[in-house]
Amino acid sequence: MLFENQVVWVTGGGSGIGRMTCLMLAREGASLLITDVNDEGGEATANLIAHEDGHGRVLYRHADVTNSDDVSHMARLAHDHFGGLHAAVNSAGISGTFDKPLHETDEDNYTRVMDVNVKGVWLCMRSQIPALIQSGGGSIVNLASVAGLIGSPGGSIYAASKHAVIGLTKAAALEYARSNVRINAVCPSFIETPMVTAITEVSQKMAESTRKASPMKRLGRPEEVAELILWLCSSRSSFVNGVSYAIDGGLTAG
Ligand code: NAI
Repeated sequence: MLFENQVVWVTGGGSGIGRMTCLMLAREGASLLITDVNDEGGEATANLIAHEDGHGRVLYRHADVTNSDDVSHMARLAHDHFGGLHAAVNSAGISGTFDKPLHETDEDNYTRVMDVNVKGVWLCMRSQIPALIQSGGGSIVNLASVAGLIGSPGGSIYAASKHAVIGLTKAAALEYARSNVRINAVCPSFIETPMVTAITEVSQKMAESTRKASPMKRLGRPEEVAELILWLCSSRSSFVNGVSYAIDGGLTAG
């Protein structure tokens, strides 16, 4: 199995892409540290894994990615409980306001989105990198977005936050390349998860225009993104570093 004897920490593992990534990692034998602020969702992911016939071990813990104490304890926990850390997936994120022009967005939205999406990824990587080095190296995958590659009207703060995730990814990839830590980002377009369902409930029009704009005329599925995340976490991508992969059915090709 691809992740036998590998320990992976997934933030935001209680829902959507994070949950699917956990399930698919466990099927490949990974031991999983799942963190989230949504305890119900996080426990549910851990229970799903425990009830599947996988070979992985699983632990759920509450950890807010914006809280440095929460986050720094998790890297230690991975070492104490599982004996190391070999990969990390930073999936925790929020969309914030997505249907307002820039001049109508408020400061609370800015602070919250930047805190979770940017500070959160920075704090997590700050904790994960020394733990990965201690284990002999490893891989980090950050969830950016196509909104980190191109502009998206109505979601200016989200776009800014995801461009920042790509900047953090590239800089960190260069800093730790010689320590055998690879750091990459994935940039999905709209994927059918609770994050998008919440948006599309507010604006059915947005979901429809997203489908129409997509060359493949559909939204993506969490397992399609998780497939790419697993590859980037694994040794199969051993020479891939500092890259931000669009996974968007061709949306940003045009
Ligand atoms: P989701 O809403 O289904 O799951 C996100 C998880 O992050 C939730 O369980 C939530 O509780 C957790 N979370 C939120 N704030 C947190 C915090 N402060 N600390 C710890 N956990 C926190 O979202 P989804 O769709 O799975 O998105 C995952 C990542 O992928 C996000 O970073 C998102 O921006 C990104 N993404 C999602 C796309 C989509 O269409 N669903 C498209 C492009 C990027």
